[in-house]
Amino acid sequence: MLERVKKLIEEVNSFNSTNVDEIETFRIKFLGSKGLLKELFAEFKNVPNEQKKEFGQTINTLKKLAEDKVSSLKETIENSKEEKGIYGDLTRPSELIDLGSRHPISIVKNKIIDVFNRIGFTISEGPEIEDDWHNFTALNLPEYHPARDMQDTFFINENLDTLLRTHTSSVQVRHMENNQPPIRTISPGRVFRNEDISARAHCIFHQVEGLYIDTDVSFADLKQTLLYFTKEMFGKSKIRLRPSYFPFTEPSAEVDIYWGLETETDYKITKGTGWLEIMGCGMVDPNVLKNCNIDPEKYSGYAFGMGIERIAMLLYQIPDIRMFYENDVRFLKQFKSVI
Ligand code: PHE
Repeated sequence: MLERVKKLIEEVNSFNSTNVDEIETFRIKFLGSKGLLKELFAEFKNVPNEQKKEFGQTINTLKKLAEDKVSSLKETIENSKEEKGIYGDLTRPSELIDLGSRHPISIVKNKIIDVFNRIGFTISEGPEIEDDWHNFTALNLPEYHPARDMQDTFFINENLDTLLRTHTSSVQVRHMENNQPPIRTISPGRVFRNEDISARAHCIFHQVEGLYIDTDVSFADLKQTLLYFTKEMFGKSKIRLRPSYFPFTEPSAEVDIYWGLETETDYKITKGTGWLEIMGCGMVDPNVLKNCNIDPEKYSGYAFGMGIERIAMLLYQIPDIRMFYENDVRFLKQFKSVI
């Protein structure tokens, strides 16, 4: 019996740890309510009388040693924490600074700009708060024209003549007012429409619209430019043009690109058809040219407009447009770009 207690004393003496959990396990083993010391004290009554004195002293020693051990190890841990203090080790290497990355909308916008720059298009920009003339009237959408309803507008005054632009066609009007053909320009920018927010639509989004005006510009030129664009942008050139209506172009068409149905996201964003509408286009209506002081007898032109979000969703397989505006860094960090 005495031998066993002496072994335990050795065990206590040799125990060492800086781990809080290990120290606690040690404490429970020796000093806990069902621990070894409890057990040994209970044994006391069975010890022969002549040994009682020595046995009693030895287990008391064991108890004291175990208690001292626990408190000194705990103290060591506390002290080492204090030493580190708030500054920690001043010689350690610094933490890496997180570098920001370009927003996917900017990456795609820059890519579109790059594709059109290569065939001579310049960039034009204009205000996001527009007047009625540049957003609607000059574009062959006079007051009370039913097609105004196509673009759910955020008006910002009571006269309903100042608004958040619903498309960047307004920039093209400004450009035509200030420049004579030949005109080759694209206008990227933010636009606003009072639409219900869903996985496919948002009330704020981005567009790139293009305008080409010169003598003898034909629908064939438009089609060829679209083919060039889809090839450069997506590496695919299966497109289709569906007759459509825009007040500012005649004839008008909608451009679909065949993307395929390889992934689940493809299904989702193409509604299971494999085709995705990527832009509207058409030959600039002579009335629009007239409104902007360009002679429609002499000049003709084409125009097109696309949503950047839609193209980014296609390129990066993003299933929900809302992700662009949530600013979740885990989402944003995934996009790397050279432009
Ligand atoms: N402005 C149109 C829109 O926002 C797009 C478009 C531009 C269509 C040019 C035809 C020609 O929906």
